Amino acid sequence: MTLAKKLLDFHSPGNRFSYYPLTSKWEEVKKTAPSLPSPSTEGFGIYIHIPFCREICTYCGCNIKISNQKEEHLQYVKALSMEKKLRWDKINPPSDLLNITFGGGTPNFLNPKAKELLLEELGPLIGAQTSSGQMEVDPRYFTREDAQWAFALKINRFNFGVQDFNSEILSNVNRRQSLDHLHRAKEALLPQQIMGMDLLWGLPKQDERSMKNWYSHLKTLAPDWISFYPLAKVPWLESIQNAYGDFTLPDRERKYELYQWGVEIFESLGYRNQGMGHFVKKNGPLDQTLYRKVSGLFPQKTPYLMGLGVSAITEGPDFMAQNYKILDRYLFSLLKKNELPLFKFHKKSQKEKQMNQLVEDIFSHHTIPELLKQRVPEEWREPNSNDISNLGLHFKKNIMQIGEKTIFEA
Ligand SMILES: C[S@@+](CC[C@H](N)C(=O)[O-])C[C@H]1O[C@@H](n2cnc3c(N)ncnc32)[C@H](O)[C@@H]1O
Ligand code: SF4
Repeated sequence: MTLAKKLLDFHSPGNRFSYYPLTSKWEEVKKTAPSLPSPSTEGFGIYIHIPFCREICTYCGCNIKISNQKEEHLQYVKALSMEKKLRWDKINPPSDLLNITFGGGTPNFLNPKAKELLLEELGPLIGAQTSSGQMEVDPRYFTREDAQWAFALKINRFNFGVQDFNSEILSNVNRRQSLDHLHRAKEALLPQQIMGMDLLWGLPKQDERSMKNWYSHLKTLAPDWISFYPLAKVPWLESIQNAYGDFTLPDRERKYELYQWGVEIFESLGYRNQGMGHFVKKNGPLDQTLYRKVSGLFPQKTPYLMGLGVSAITEGPDFMAQNYKILDRYLFSLLKKNELPLFKFHKKSQKEKQMNQLVEDIFSHHTIPELLKQRVPEEWREPNSNDISNLGLHFKKNIMQIGEKTIFEA
């Protein structure tokens, strides 16, 4: 039976478990925002959300704002620095900053003056323990200046939003991107910086031919890792999607075939499947234990991640919190009221913490805890072992779902 057919048999939508539980389970903050617990001495990471983009891609599910207005970018950085101050002053005793992550939107699209101010704000926080930060990048606008700016913040990993290599498939979703953009963006990286690529399966017009053409592009561009995401529905964009192009989606059978063709290419080019859509180059700079957090993959454990910016999530071992998702509301809290822009907060229960541990066992260590062993199909495990088999790596989400049932039924 083909991989596509097996995936179809076990099709099960739902949580992708990059954090747990989902924000829909968190409590809304009423009136006064609680002060958030500080990181422990184990150190912490910072995630900064930059929402701005030049144009909308009609598949995009991220929290974005189309704006190239310098003043708007500067105002946002001012709010970020106020938020950082409110949070930073509470860190006592000071704990090591392990890494900085920029997500978006398009961090490299931030106005140059705003980037400069942000660097002035963040530069002094960088210490001896800071390393291996990451940044989401739109390859159409990535320059050597951006790479140098990021280098000053010890950012060494860049996820290029590639999505597909076919310019017709891309322009149909309002993304005008050529192979030249990708090559130029790669050349802009400094020698010590490494490149990942976000690719999507399930875009309108993707087919066997277009997918099989990925082979030569991936061989030439040779990213160090690949994030291969299933296209998620974006209900608030449905009314405009067909106005920009033909947004007819492939059916479920075809979607899993697209996934299978992608995986065959990655494996033939020497990528190791980490599960949940992540593939790393064997013996490359990321071929090591990776920890999955809400804002990406980390080579360090980073038990506390401080989220700054609109919609950003903060996660500590015992709690989770999210900032306002509406930009004006976020700005109002900081610039007019000088208070934390907290929208939701959640204290984790013991069982939810058990779920966090399960993510680590399954995603980072590729093992199935004893508790689940009997409930997981045998072919997803190596014989006589708790290690997840090569086939099982494609079913980590299903294994997590079995884990969720097991933990909450107990
Ligand atoms: C912040 S963007 C990446 C950086 C930059 N804005 C760009 O597009 O090049 C983050 C990634 O989320 C993924 N993404 C966006 N919308 C999605 C959707 N509806 N379903 C699945 N993945 C999506 C894309 O692969 C995208 O590269
Ligand atoms: S995919 Fe990237 S560039 Fe396109 S709208 Fe989303 S965040 Fe912006």
